[in-house]
Amino acid sequence: MEISTKKVLVTGGAGFIGSHLVDLLMSEGCHVRVVDSLINGKLENLKQHEGSANFEFVKADIRDASTFASAVENAEVVFHLACLGVRHSIKYPHENQRVNAEGSFIVLNEAHKAGVEKFIYCSSSEVYGTAEYVPMPEEHPTRPCTVYGAGKLAGEAYARAFQRTYGLNTVVLRLFNTYGPRSHHENDIGELIPKSIVRALNGKPVLIFGNGSQTRDFTYVEDSAKALLEAARCDNAAGKTLNAGSEFEITIEQVAKLILNITKSASSIEYYKNRPGDVLRLYSDTSAFRKLTNWKPQVSLKEGLARTMKWFKSRPEGPSFLLSQEKPINWE
Ligand SMILES: NC(=O)c1ccc[n+]([C@@H]2O[C@H](COP(=O)([O-])OP(=O)(O)OC[C@H]3O[C@@H](n4cnc5c(N)ncnc54)[C@H](O)[C@@H]3O)[C@@H](O)[C@H]2O)c1
Repeated sequence: MEISTKKVLVTGGAGFIGSHLVDLLMSEGCHVRVVDSLINGKLENLKQHEGSANFEFVKADIRDASTFASAVENAEVVFHLACLGVRHSIKYPHENQRVNAEGSFIVLNEAHKAGVEKFIYCSSSEVYGTAEYVPMPEEHPTRPCTVYGAGKLAGEAYARAFQRTYGLNTVVLRLFNTYGPRSHHENDIGELIPKSIVRALNGKPVLIFGNGSQTRDFTYVEDSAKALLEAARCDNAAGKTLNAGSEFEITIEQVAKLILNITKSASSIEYYKNRPGDVLRLYSDTSAFRKLTNWKPQVSLKEGLARTMKWFKSRPEGPSFLLSQEKPINWE
């Protein structure tokens, strides 16, 4: 699909990954409309597009079907990223599933009624739960550990059902853990890398929940955004469920040490109790997506961490204010 002439709608486009996707789509020459409730997203992430004739922002909740129906009118491609996070799902499971599962249904239903040409459902490696074998291809069992993972999986199931029943041209792309500038360090949306960078920049110990032997497969955010774009471009991806990870497994403890090294922090690592529902091992097999699209992550973990640290250091709020927004145990 030639995307540069398309009218594209991005749900969750003011968020971390969504705003990088919007940057990419704008640079491709698309007409981009963002729908975001701003519960966790920030207009600041999109300020570079303010005033552009090709850019529109609609502040709305995806669960408001009639508002979303108006927003999706005339859209040719939809990227659905709006969601609430993993840690949020532990304290507020009902609210989390209402957005991630039911909200996804509403977005799919309205996109189908509006006759969109292509729908990209941004899913997550959390649908797998802990790896039963590695690397994990798309056929790996899906046994999510959290309501977040279950809600993302429900959204996938709806996307595949809309493809089969109504012929909605859908791609389900399972991103693995993503990090980079604009990632969240704050409250219940704070994640390991941004939280640890903010703590290290303040000379505070980096926190590990459990013994640090859990593994993840991290992708730099610009690479994840490119994967979403390639999923839309590739006609042969239609109807498929595909992984997009770096195919590089690293322990949480190794990541913490890398962060302390990059930030040149003299502080240490502190070990805490396990996080409820924590996934113990993730390591992607992305060969199917690579073969279809030639997508390959361009930014190494070391380079990506350095760029992320530089971004946090450049924040006008300053490190101590950022630290005041960081909640060490952020699921209770
Ligand atoms: N960050 C990761 O490591 C990661 C990994 C795999 C998959 N994903 C997926 O990527 C997508 C984006 O995640 P992110 O990390 O950028 O998170 P994010 O919280 O930064 O982005 C989600 C956006 O959705 C918006 N939103 C939440 N509820 C909404 C609602 N009811 N109506 C409208 N907007 C709403 C938020 O304001 C936010 O801007 C999600 O679908 C997530 O499942 C993320």
